[in-house]
Amino acid sequence: MSHYAHITGWGMAVPEKTLTNEDLAQMVDTSDEWIVSRTGIRQRHLATENQTTATLATDAAIKALQMANITPQDVDLIIVSTSSPEHIFPATACLVQDNIGASKAGAFDLSAACSGFIYALNMAAQAIQTGSIKCAVVIGSETLSRLVNWQDRNTCILFGDGAGAFVLQSSEEPGGVLSAVMRSDGSGRDSLSLPAGGSLMPTTADTVSMGLHFIQMNGREVFRFATRVMAQATQEAVELAGLKMEDISLIVPHQANLRIIEAAARSLEVPMQRVMVNVDRYGNTSTASIPIAAVEAANSGRLKQGDYVVFVGFGAGLTWGAAVVRWGAPFPTKRRLPPVSFRIWARLRSLVRRLLRQIEGMLWGRHA
Ligand code: ACO
Repeated sequence: MSHYAHITGWGMAVPEKTLTNEDLAQMVDTSDEWIVSRTGIRQRHLATENQTTATLATDAAIKALQMANITPQDVDLIIVSTSSPEHIFPATACLVQDNIGASKAGAFDLSAACSGFIYALNMAAQAIQTGSIKCAVVIGSETLSRLVNWQDRNTCILFGDGAGAFVLQSSEEPGGVLSAVMRSDGSGRDSLSLPAGGSLMPTTADTVSMGLHFIQMNGREVFRFATRVMAQATQEAVELAGLKMEDISLIVPHQANLRIIEAAARSLEVPMQRVMVNVDRYGNTSTASIPIAAVEAANSGRLKQGDYVVFVGFGAGLTWGAAVVRWGAPFPTKRRLPPVSFRIWARLRSLVRRLLRQIEGMLWGRHA
Protein backbone atom coordinates (compact mmCIF):
# COMPACT_ATOMS: atom_id res chain seq x y z
CA MET A 1 0.00 0.00 0.00
CA SER A 2 1.38 3.42 -0.92
CA HIS A 3 1.18 6.30 1.49
CA TYR A 4 1.12 9.89 0.25
CA ALA A 5 1.78 12.95 2.43
CA HIS A 6 -0.94 15.50 1.70
CA ILE A 7 -1.01 19.08 2.93
CA THR A 8 -4.45 19.36 4.52
CA GLY A 9 -4.18 22.49 6.66
CA TRP A 10 -2.13 25.67 6.78
CA GLY A 11 -1.85 28.74 8.93
CA MET A 12 0.39 31.73 9.60
CA ALA A 13 1.03 34.15 12.42
CA VAL A 14 2.86 37.45 12.22
CA PRO A 15 3.14 40.06 14.96
CA GLU A 16 0.91 43.11 14.45
CA LYS A 17 3.74 45.54 15.11
CA THR A 18 5.46 46.72 11.92
CA LEU A 19 8.67 48.59 11.26
CA THR A 20 8.82 50.56 8.01
CA ASN A 21 11.89 51.60 6.05
CA GLU A 22 11.24 55.17 7.19
CA ASP A 23 11.33 53.97 10.80
CA LEU A 24 14.68 52.27 10.09
CA ALA A 25 16.08 55.42 8.51
CA GLN A 26 15.65 57.06 11.94
CA MET A 27 17.74 54.30 13.52
CA VAL A 28 20.63 53.71 11.08
CA ASP A 29 22.18 55.46 8.08
CA THR A 30 19.84 54.17 5.36
CA SER A 31 16.85 55.22 3.29
CA ASP A 32 13.59 53.81 1.98
CA GLU A 33 14.93 54.27 -1.57
CA TRP A 34 18.09 52.21 -0.84
CA ILE A 35 16.24 49.39 0.89
CA VAL A 36 13.47 49.11 -1.73
CA SER A 37 15.84 49.25 -4.69
CA ARG A 38 18.34 46.71 -3.24
CA THR A 39 15.90 44.30 -1.56
CA GLY A 40 12.25 45.05 -2.44
CA ILE A 41 11.44 45.25 1.29
CA ARG A 42 9.10 48.03 2.47
CA GLN A 43 8.25 46.88 5.99
CA ARG A 44 8.69 43.94 8.36
CA HIS A 45 6.73 42.66 11.37
CA LEU A 46 8.48 42.52 14.74
CA ALA A 47 7.61 40.45 17.79
CA THR A 48 6.46 42.33 20.85
CA GLU A 49 7.96 41.56 24.25
CA ASN A 50 5.57 38.68 24.99
CA GLN A 51 5.81 37.10 21.54
CA THR A 52 8.46 34.45 20.95
CA THR A 53 9.36 31.83 18.38
CA ALA A 54 7.19 29.30 20.27
CA THR A 55 4.15 31.57 20.65
CA LEU A 56 4.16 32.47 16.94
CA ALA A 57 4.68 28.79 16.05
CA THR A 58 1.79 27.80 18.32
CA ASP A 59 -0.55 30.39 16.77
CA ALA A 60 0.29 29.21 13.25
CA ALA A 61 -0.03 25.53 14.21
CA ILE A 62 -3.46 26.01 15.80
CA LYS A 63 -4.75 27.74 12.68
CA ALA A 64 -3.42 24.89 10.52
CA LEU A 65 -5.01 22.24 12.78
CA GLN A 66 -8.35 24.06 12.78
CA MET A 67 -8.29 24.23 9.02
CA ALA A 68 -7.46 20.51 8.72
CA ASN A 69 -10.29 19.87 11.21
CA ILE A 70 -8.17 17.61 13.40
CA THR A 71 -7.30 17.72 17.10
CA PRO A 72 -3.81 17.95 18.60
CA GLN A 73 -4.23 14.33 19.76
CA ASP A 74 -4.22 13.26 16.10
CA VAL A 75 -0.69 14.63 15.62
CA ASP A 76 2.18 12.10 15.62
CA LEU A 77 5.07 14.48 14.94
CA ILE A 78 5.85 18.18 15.34
CA ILE A 79 8.88 19.64 13.58
CA VAL A 80 9.81 23.26 14.22
CA SER A 81 12.31 24.62 11.77
CA THR A 82 14.01 27.66 13.28
CA SER A 83 17.30 29.53 13.62
CA SER A 84 15.98 31.53 16.57
CA PRO A 85 14.90 28.77 18.97
CA GLU A 86 13.77 29.69 22.44
CA HIS A 87 16.72 27.80 23.96
CA ILE A 88 19.62 25.63 22.81
CA PHE A 89 17.54 22.96 24.53
CA PRO A 90 14.78 21.99 25.10
CA ALA A 91 13.54 22.13 21.54
CA THR A 92 11.03 24.85 20.67
CA ALA A 93 8.94 22.03 19.15
CA CYS A 94 8.44 20.61 22.67
CA LEU A 95 7.10 23.97 23.84
CA VAL A 96 4.67 23.96 20.93
CA GLN A 97 3.70 20.37 21.75
CA ASP A 98 2.86 21.48 25.29
CA ASN A 99 1.10 24.69 24.15
CA ILE A 100 -1.27 22.79 21.87
CA GLY A 101 -1.57 19.65 24.02
CA ALA A 102 -0.41 17.20 21.35
CA SER A 103 -0.12 14.37 23.85
CA LYS A 104 0.93 11.65 21.37
CA ALA A 105 3.42 13.62 19.31
CA GLY A 106 7.18 13.40 19.05
CA ALA A 107 8.72 16.86 18.70
CA PHE A 108 12.07 18.19 17.55
CA ASP A 109 13.69 21.28 16.06
CA LEU A 110 15.41 21.35 12.73
CA SER A 111 18.26 23.75 12.05
CA ALA A 112 18.88 24.44 8.37
CA ALA A 113 18.36 28.23 8.44
CA CYS A 114 16.16 29.58 5.66
CA SER A 115 16.11 26.22 3.85
CA GLY A 116 14.80 24.57 7.01
CA PHE A 117 11.13 24.51 6.10
CA ILE A 118 11.88 22.52 2.94
CA TYR A 119 14.04 20.09 4.92
CA ALA A 120 11.32 19.75 7.60
CA LEU A 121 8.56 19.26 5.04
CA ASN A 122 10.61 16.53 3.41
CA MET A 123 11.39 14.80 6.76
CA ALA A 124 7.70 14.78 7.75
CA ALA A 125 6.61 13.61 4.30
CA GLN A 126 9.18 10.79 4.39
CA ALA A 127 7.87 9.63 7.79
CA ILE A 128 4.32 9.56 6.39
CA GLN A 129 5.34 7.90 3.12
CA THR A 130 7.07 5.03 4.93
CA GLY A 131 3.89 4.42 6.96
CA SER A 132 5.70 5.25 10.19
CA ILE A 133 3.29 8.08 11.11
CA LYS A 134 -0.05 9.39 9.87
CA CYS A 135 -0.06 13.06 10.77
CA ALA A 136 2.59 15.75 11.21
CA VAL A 137 2.67 19.46 11.86
CA VAL A 138 5.57 21.24 10.20
CA ILE A 139 6.28 24.77 11.35
CA GLY A 140 8.74 27.45 10.29
CA SER A 141 9.03 30.10 12.99
CA GLU A 142 11.47 32.94 13.66
CA THR A 143 12.06 35.94 15.86
CA LEU A 144 15.30 36.99 14.20
CA SER A 145 14.67 40.54 15.42
CA ARG A 146 16.10 39.27 18.73
CA LEU A 147 19.37 38.24 17.05
CA VAL A 148 19.94 41.23 14.82
CA ASN A 149 22.26 44.08 15.68
CA TRP A 150 19.94 47.06 15.28
CA GLN A 151 22.96 49.29 14.68
CA ASP A 152 24.22 47.26 11.72
CA ARG A 153 22.55 48.58 8.57
CA ASN A 154 23.91 45.66 6.52
CA THR A 155 21.64 43.20 8.32
CA CYS A 156 18.96 44.97 10.36
CA ILE A 157 17.06 46.15 7.28
CA LEU A 158 16.54 42.61 6.04
CA PHE A 159 14.84 40.51 8.69
CA GLY A 160 11.34 40.18 10.13
CA ASP A 161 9.47 37.87 12.51
CA GLY A 162 6.69 35.38 11.84
CA ALA A 163 5.59 31.77 11.56
CA GLY A 164 3.85 29.48 9.10
CA ALA A 165 2.61 25.92 9.56
CA PHE A 166 1.38 23.00 7.46
CA VAL A 167 -0.54 19.93 8.58
CA LEU A 168 0.49 16.82 6.65
CA GLN A 169 -1.73 13.75 6.63
CA SER A 170 -1.42 10.31 5.16
CA SER A 171 -3.65 9.15 2.31
CA GLU A 172 -3.63 6.38 -0.30
CA GLU A 173 -4.71 8.96 -2.91
CA PRO A 174 -1.70 10.06 -4.98
CA GLY A 175 -0.64 13.67 -4.34
CA GLY A 176 0.95 15.83 -1.68
CA VAL A 177 4.73 16.08 -1.42
CA LEU A 178 6.08 14.62 -4.68
CA SER A 179 9.80 15.31 -4.51
CA ALA A 180 12.46 17.16 -2.59
CA VAL A 181 16.13 17.99 -2.95
CA MET A 182 18.28 19.00 0.00
CA ARG A 183 21.82 20.31 -0.42
CA SER A 184 24.51 21.84 1.76
CA ASP A 185 28.00 23.31 1.58
CA GLY A 186 29.54 23.88 5.00
CA SER A 187 32.59 25.49 3.44
CA GLY A 188 30.37 28.57 3.24
CA ARG A 189 29.66 28.56 6.99
CA ASP A 190 31.18 32.02 7.48
CA SER A 191 29.01 33.74 4.85
CA LEU A 192 26.11 33.91 7.29
CA SER A 193 26.37 32.96 10.93
CA LEU A 194 25.71 33.70 14.56
CA PRO A 195 29.17 32.89 15.90
CA ALA A 196 28.86 32.75 19.69
CA GLY A 197 26.65 31.09 22.28
CA GLY A 198 27.30 27.53 21.10
CA SER A 199 29.85 24.98 22.28
CA LEU A 200 32.66 26.40 20.12
CA MET A 201 32.37 29.87 21.60
CA PRO A 202 30.37 29.80 24.83
CA THR A 203 28.92 33.06 26.07
CA THR A 204 31.39 35.26 27.93
CA ALA A 205 31.54 38.97 28.68
CA ASP A 206 34.00 39.23 25.74
CA THR A 207 31.72 37.50 23.21
CA VAL A 208 28.92 39.84 24.25
CA SER A 209 31.03 42.99 24.05
CA MET A 210 32.38 41.93 20.65
CA GLY A 211 28.82 41.57 19.31
CA LEU A 212 29.31 37.90 18.48
CA HIS A 213 25.74 37.03 19.47
CA PHE A 214 24.39 38.98 16.50
CA ILE A 215 23.87 37.79 12.94
CA GLN A 216 27.02 38.30 10.82
CA MET A 217 26.62 38.26 7.08
CA ASN A 218 28.62 38.74 3.91
CA GLY A 219 25.67 39.98 1.84
CA ARG A 220 27.41 39.85 -1.54
CA GLU A 221 28.60 36.27 -1.02
CA VAL A 222 25.12 35.12 0.02
CA PHE A 223 23.61 36.98 -2.93
CA ARG A 224 25.90 35.28 -5.47
CA PHE A 225 25.34 31.84 -3.93
CA ALA A 226 21.55 32.32 -3.83
CA THR A 227 21.22 33.35 -7.46
CA ARG A 228 23.30 30.31 -8.46
CA VAL A 229 21.33 27.65 -6.56
CA MET A 230 17.67 28.70 -6.67
CA ALA A 231 17.00 27.84 -10.32
CA GLN A 232 19.15 24.73 -10.19
CA ALA A 233 17.34 23.26 -7.14
CA THR A 234 13.94 24.08 -8.66
CA GLN A 235 14.80 22.27 -11.89
CA GLU A 236 16.11 19.23 -10.01
CA ALA A 237 13.00 18.93 -7.83
CA VAL A 238 10.65 19.33 -10.81
CA GLU A 239 12.52 16.65 -12.75
CA LEU A 240 12.50 14.32 -9.74
CA ALA A 241 8.72 14.71 -9.53
CA GLY A 242 8.46 13.64 -13.18
CA LEU A 243 7.13 17.06 -14.23
CA LYS A 244 8.12 19.91 -16.55
CA MET A 245 8.39 23.59 -15.62
CA GLU A 246 5.21 24.25 -17.68
CA ASP A 247 3.28 22.02 -15.24
CA ILE A 248 4.16 24.26 -12.30
CA SER A 249 1.40 26.73 -11.44
CA LEU A 250 3.34 28.66 -8.83
CA ILE A 251 6.86 28.94 -7.44
CA VAL A 252 7.01 29.97 -3.79
CA PRO A 253 10.62 31.01 -3.18
CA HIS A 254 12.31 31.98 0.06
CA GLN A 255 11.58 35.67 0.49
CA ALA A 256 15.03 37.15 1.11
CA ASN A 257 15.43 39.70 -1.63
CA LEU A 258 13.27 40.57 -4.66
CA ARG A 259 16.36 40.77 -6.89
CA ILE A 260 17.34 37.19 -6.01
CA ILE A 261 13.78 36.00 -6.74
CA GLU A 262 13.70 37.84 -10.07
CA ALA A 263 17.11 36.44 -11.06
CA ALA A 264 15.90 32.88 -10.34
CA ALA A 265 12.70 33.45 -12.34
CA ARG A 266 14.78 34.77 -15.28
CA SER A 267 17.05 31.71 -15.24
CA LEU A 268 14.02 29.43 -15.17
CA GLU A 269 12.30 31.51 -17.89
CA VAL A 270 9.21 31.68 -15.68
CA PRO A 271 7.17 34.93 -15.72
CA MET A 272 6.86 36.70 -12.36
CA GLN A 273 3.07 36.11 -12.44
CA ARG A 274 3.90 32.50 -11.57
CA VAL A 275 6.17 33.48 -8.68
CA MET A 276 4.87 34.37 -5.22
CA VAL A 277 6.35 37.53 -3.73
CA ASN A 278 5.50 39.11 -0.38
CA VAL A 279 8.98 40.14 0.77
CA ASP A 280 7.81 43.77 0.50
CA ARG A 281 5.49 43.33 3.52
CA TYR A 282 7.37 40.85 5.72
CA GLY A 283 11.08 41.18 4.92
CA ASN A 284 13.13 38.02 5.30
CA THR A 285 11.43 35.84 7.92
CA SER A 286 14.02 33.12 7.27
CA THR A 287 12.53 29.63 7.51
CA ALA A 288 9.03 31.06 8.04
CA SER A 289 9.02 32.89 4.71
CA ILE A 290 8.04 29.95 2.50
CA PRO A 291 5.06 28.77 4.59
CA ILE A 292 3.89 32.38 5.12
CA ALA A 293 4.04 33.02 1.37
CA ALA A 294 2.30 29.70 0.65
CA VAL A 295 -0.51 30.48 3.11
CA GLU A 296 -1.02 33.92 1.55
CA ALA A 297 -1.00 32.38 -1.95
CA ALA A 298 -3.55 29.74 -0.94
CA ASN A 299 -5.79 32.15 0.95
CA SER A 300 -5.83 34.61 -1.96
CA GLY A 301 -6.65 31.89 -4.52
CA ARG A 302 -3.27 31.96 -6.30
CA LEU A 303 -2.66 28.41 -5.10
CA LYS A 304 -5.54 25.99 -5.63
CA GLN A 305 -6.18 22.36 -4.84
CA GLY A 306 -4.47 20.16 -7.42
CA ASP A 307 -1.94 22.82 -8.47
CA TYR A 308 1.69 21.81 -8.71
CA VAL A 309 3.80 24.19 -6.63
CA VAL A 310 7.55 24.45 -6.05
CA PHE A 311 8.98 25.61 -2.72
CA VAL A 312 12.61 26.68 -3.05
CA GLY A 313 14.99 28.22 -0.56
CA PHE A 314 18.57 28.89 0.48
CA GLY A 315 20.27 29.99 3.66
CA ALA A 316 23.01 29.74 6.20
CA GLY A 317 25.01 26.55 6.35
CA LEU A 318 25.19 27.02 3.48
CA THR A 319 22.03 25.09 2.72
CA TRP A 320 19.53 25.06 -0.12
CA GLY A 321 16.72 22.91 -1.37
CA ALA A 322 13.43 22.64 -3.21
CA ALA A 323 10.27 20.57 -2.99
CA VAL A 324 7.44 19.92 -5.42
CA VAL A 325 3.97 19.55 -3.95
CA ARG A 326 0.55 18.87 -5.40
CA TRP A 327 -1.40 21.36 -3.32
CA GLY A 328 -4.10 19.84 -1.15
CA ALA A 329 -7.17 20.66 0.89
CA PRO A 330 -8.64 19.47 4.19
CA PHE A 331 -9.74 15.83 4.05
CA PRO A 332 -13.50 15.49 4.14
CA THR A 333 -14.45 14.52 7.68
CA LYS A 334 -17.67 14.52 9.65
CA ARG A 335 -16.03 15.73 12.82
CA ARG A 336 -16.62 19.42 13.32
CA LEU A 337 -14.40 20.79 16.00
CA PRO A 338 -16.15 22.96 18.57
CA PRO A 339 -14.79 26.51 18.48
CA VAL A 340 -13.12 25.95 21.85
CA SER A 341 -9.52 26.98 21.86
CA PHE A 342 -7.10 24.05 22.02
CA ARG A 343 -5.04 26.35 24.15
CA ILE A 344 -7.27 26.21 27.26
CA TRP A 345 -7.20 22.41 27.36
CA ALA A 346 -3.50 22.37 26.65
CA ARG A 347 -2.74 24.81 29.47
CA LEU A 348 -4.85 22.79 31.88
CA ARG A 349 -3.12 19.60 30.78
CA SER A 350 0.28 21.19 31.21
CA LEU A 351 -0.58 22.46 34.72
CA VAL A 352 -1.84 19.03 35.80
CA ARG A 353 1.30 17.34 34.48
CA ARG A 354 3.55 19.82 36.32
CA LEU A 355 1.55 19.27 39.52
CA LEU A 356 1.79 15.49 39.14
CA ARG A 357 5.53 15.81 38.63
CA GLN A 358 5.81 17.78 41.89
CA ILE A 359 3.69 15.25 43.81
CA GLU A 360 5.77 12.43 42.36
CA GLY A 361 8.92 14.26 43.56
CA MET A 362 7.51 14.60 47.08
CA LEU A 363 6.49 10.93 47.23
CA TRP A 364 9.85 9.66 45.99
CA GLY A 365 11.78 12.09 48.13
CA ARG A 366 15.48 11.24 48.22
CA HIS A 367 14.94 7.67 47.00
CA ALA A 368 14.68 8.64 43.33
N1 ACO B 1 21.53 51.47 3.61
C1 ACO B 1 22.37 52.17 2.83
N2 ACO B 1 23.55 51.71 2.38
C2 ACO B 1 23.88 50.46 2.73
C3 ACO B 1 23.05 49.64 3.53
C4 ACO B 1 21.84 50.20 3.97
N3 ACO B 1 20.96 49.52 4.75
N4 ACO B 1 23.63 48.45 3.69
C5 ACO B 1 24.77 48.47 3.02
N5 ACO B 1 24.95 49.70 2.44
C6 ACO B 1 26.05 50.16 1.62
C7 ACO B 1 27.28 49.32 1.80
O1 ACO B 1 28.01 49.77 2.91
C8 ACO B 1 28.00 49.52 0.49
O2 ACO B 1 28.70 50.69 0.56
P1 ACO B 1 30.23 50.75 -0.01
O3 ACO B 1 30.09 50.42 -1.48
O4 ACO B 1 30.64 52.14 0.29
O5 ACO B 1 30.97 49.70 0.74
C9 ACO B 1 26.88 49.74 -0.52
O6 ACO B 1 25.71 50.04 0.24
C10 ACO B 1 26.60 48.53 -1.39
O7 ACO B 1 26.59 47.37 -0.57
P2 ACO B 1 26.41 45.94 -1.18
O8 ACO B 1 26.62 44.94 -0.09
O9 ACO B 1 27.17 45.78 -2.43
O10 ACO B 1 24.87 45.99 -1.59
P3 ACO B 1 24.07 44.90 -2.35
O11 ACO B 1 23.50 45.47 -3.57
O12 ACO B 1 24.82 43.60 -2.44
O13 ACO B 1 22.86 44.66 -1.34
C11 ACO B 1 22.18 43.12 0.33
C12 ACO B 1 23.11 44.24 -0.02
C13 ACO B 1 20.75 43.64 0.26
C14 ACO B 1 22.48 42.64 1.75
C15 ACO B 1 22.35 41.95 -0.69
O14 ACO B 1 23.71 41.65 -0.81
C16 ACO B 1 21.58 40.71 -0.31
O15 ACO B 1 20.37 40.71 -0.29
N6 ACO B 1 22.31 39.62 -0.06
C17 ACO B 1 21.66 38.37 0.33
C18 ACO B 1 21.37 38.43 1.78
C19 ACO B 1 20.44 37.34 2.21
O16 ACO B 1 19.58 36.92 1.48
N7 ACO B 1 20.60 36.94 3.47
C20 ACO B 1 19.72 36.03 4.08
C21 ACO B 1 19.97 34.62 3.72
S1 ACO B 1 18.79 33.60 4.34
C22 ACO B 1 19.23 33.06 5.92
O17 ACO B 1 19.77 32.00 6.09
C23 ACO B 1 18.83 33.89 7.12
